[in-house]
Amino acid sequence: MEDYGRFLALLASALLVGFVSVILSLVWVFHYREGLSWDGSLGEFNWHPVLIITGFVFIQGIAIIVYRLPWTWKCSKLLMKFIHAGLNTIAMILAIVSMVAVFEFHNAKNIPNMYSLHSWIGLTAVIFYSLQLFLGFAVFLLPFAPVHLRVALMPIHVYSGLTIFATVIATALMGITEKLIFALKSPAYSASPPEATLVNCLGLLLVIFGSLILWMASRPHWKRPPAENAKILRPTEATPDGTEVESTLTKSSNADKSDLRSNTEAARKQNIKFDEAGQRSTM
Ligand code: HEM
Ligand code: HEM
Repeated sequence: MEDYGRFLALLASALLVGFVSVILSLVWVFHYREGLSWDGSLGEFNWHPVLIITGFVFIQGIAIIVYRLPWTWKCSKLLMKFIHAGLNTIAMILAIVSMVAVFEFHNAKNIPNMYSLHSWIGLTAVIFYSLQLFLGFAVFLLPFAPVHLRVALMPIHVYSGLTIFATVIATALMGITEKLIFALKSPAYSASPPEATLVNCLGLLLVIFGSLILWMASRPHWKRPPAENAKILRPTEATPDGTEVESTLTKSSNADKSDLRSNTEAARKQNIKFDEAGQRSTM
């Protein structure tokens, strides 16, 4: 892998920053706020930031870069798909529980629902995230989607995944700001009490975590290399149907490899096209 040392340094920084963010969210709710409970009180609201930062930010961030860990490149693509899908599913579950907590808290205290920009953008992000998860399973994990659909959807999958992730970080920043303005009365937020400083630092860390993940996920030379037997196109079939083999869709043995590997100019161009379309030749 090119720049292996730099990748490791960025990965270690992302893990550290993400981990410290989770710890800071716990320090915030336990040291400065009412702790955690599930009884309609402020303790129930506090699950909202803690689960969002743990699941929707940290775990989702790891899920996004999991294909890029070089020591996983020898693992099968299918296993990596399960890990990527599994981590994203855990993130989704934690996000839903965190939403239930805030809605229940609002209902228990007769606070109106869905009035703020934070809640609008947040709910939109959760809806698109569920859609992304559902389509990810349906198209890339289950063996039914035709290869040309996988090829067409992959760049959209990557783009929407990264956009949702960035939106989640922005929503978390809005939520943090709102909460500090609502909760800090005397001294007020504007007086910069220690809680405000701690939570402002948490916001900064979330931005740094997001930037590190987006950087790692957008370097073309750090993407998982195509499997040995993935870039195949039968010379007679220079169509999208030959691009994906290392998946639930098709398995080709090494013995078939020499038969299947493209040696025509048309097939070579087709391969380049697929690579450029999604920067990926395995889906
Ligand atoms: C409320 C989503 C992160 C603080 C809400 C509501 C939603 C939501 C849908 C509306 C609940 C209702 O109307 O009953 C999200 C999402 C987040 C996120 C998707 C992740 C990206 C955070 C964070 C905080 C936070 C990190 C920090 C404390 C609040 C507060 C409210 C709230 C104070 C109540 C006021 C309001 O409705 O805007 N959130 N939230 N949120 N959230 Fe978040
Ligand atoms: C790649 C996001 C769910 C299959 C990616 C990438 C992102 C992403 C950002 C680009 C990673 C990279 O360039 O290294 C998401 C999000 C999901 C989700 C946010 C959930 C909401 C799924 C599911 C599957 C899936 C359920 C089914 C297995 C894939 C595949 C790749 C990919 C096959 C290409 C990996 C490669 O470059 O070799 N996803 N994804 N995704 N995702 Fe997802």
